[in-house]
Amino acid sequence: MKVLTVFLACFFAAFDLSAQEAVKLPAPVVTGGMPLMQAMKERKTERAFSSEALDAQTLSDILWSAWGYNRPDKRTIPTAKNRQNMEVYVLKADGAWRYDARGNALIPVTSQDLRPLAARQDFVMSAPVTLLFVADDDDDYAGMHAGSAYQNVGLYCASKGLHNVVRGMIDRKALAAALGIHDDDDIIISQTIGKPVK
Ligand SMILES: Cc1cc2nc3c(=O)[nH]c(=O)nc-3n(C[C@H](O)[C@H](O)[C@H](O)COP(=O)(O)O)c2cc1C
Repeated sequence: MKVLTVFLACFFAAFDLSAQEAVKLPAPVVTGGMPLMQAMKERKTERAFSSEALDAQTLSDILWSAWGYNRPDKRTIPTAKNRQNMEVYVLKADGAWRYDARGNALIPVTSQDLRPLAARQDFVMSAPVTLLFVADDDDDYAGMHAGSAYQNVGLYCASKGLHNVVRGMIDRKALAAALGIHDDDDIIISQTIGKPVK
């Protein structure tokens, strides 16, 4: 059954590629927010989410926090030897996307909702966004880079009153196949994000 699920996900992913276009995100808002010490105080894991979508501005700000450029050629997180060797994928109900930080855009990967492959916990399906941090896990520093990114996002969420949870409980194999992730790369960790339940 699992093999069939993976096969179907791959088939539909390939089939759908041409159906979607890149989505330009609004420029991230890089001012304001909660004072840093307060955001650190507020940062926490939450596992209940409203299914309400996140607007494009919020998504842009989240992705910039995780992996955007804060200088012409460097990022909001440090990377070993400045390799900048990570990718961030976005899973939403309307498809999966790769974040293009340089273009501040979402590059379509599939119009399929892949959140079920990331959902070994029920609350994931009610959350509008799950991020995947992808890198070569033979790189000793891959987990550190992903950790820096999810911590920035966690602090952003604290600052904006959003809920988030970092999650290792995902079907990495099925997701990698569905997203066409290169053999050398691995899904290091995921992070599920959304508004609190009203
Ligand atoms: C690498 C990593 C993997 C995690 N995986 C999961 C997970 O699969 N499911 C989950 O519900 N929480 C997961 N968590 C969240 C932790 O359970 C949570 O951070 C911990 O209980 C401490 O709570 P706090 O974040 O509120 O301080 C993970 C956290 C980290 C850092």
